[in-house]
Amino acid sequence: MTLLKKFSASILLLLFVVGCSQQQSKNQQMDNEPSTNYSKAVAVVHPTEGNEVTGSVTFTKEDEGVRVQANFEGLSQGRHGFHIHQYGDCTASDGTSAGGHYNPTGNKHGSPTQDNRHMGDMGNLAVSEDGSATLDYVDPKIKLNGPNGIIGRGIIVHGGEDDFESQPSGAAGPRVGCGVVGIAKGNTSAGM
Ligand code: CU
Ligand code: ZN
Repeated sequence: MTLLKKFSASILLLLFVVGCSQQQSKNQQMDNEPSTNYSKAVAVVHPTEGNEVTGSVTFTKEDEGVRVQANFEGLSQGRHGFHIHQYGDCTASDGTSAGGHYNPTGNKHGSPTQDNRHMGDMGNLAVSEDGSATLDYVDPKIKLNGPNGIIGRGIIVHGGEDDFESQPSGAAGPRVGCGVVGIAKGNTSAGM
């Protein structure tokens, strides 16, 4: 008899717990709001095998989009394709583990100023004679938060120029540098 009581009590408790978690996931689906509110992200880029590029990129939320600020050195003079790639995975010595360009909306490859472009299309780094490059622009497509946010994705610097036309990746050549986008210190949002 006592055993039976205990048994029914457990069943009731189980039903209660299951009911609660169902309600919780329903709520999460219903608001469909981003669960994060980051205002700043950062990536440090390391050279792939046989290359020398080092540098970093910060992504800062602004009214018109996300400000991209990059500093690199150790590159050859000229233009080098610069993208956010699908995976924050730099384990392959040639950077191929980062996958293709980050493209959550199924668009074509393009330039950062085109409307139909991959979210990850940040154009080219213009490298000067001393091997250094800086970039500073506000990107209207990049998202830090929500299901299509870039945190956890990869950054790739290429050996050649992105032509903005060749599909699916602008024919920018080998991957000379790789990094992972992380949450930066100095986030200003509430609760950070
Ligand atoms: Cu790329
Ligand atoms: Zn692309």
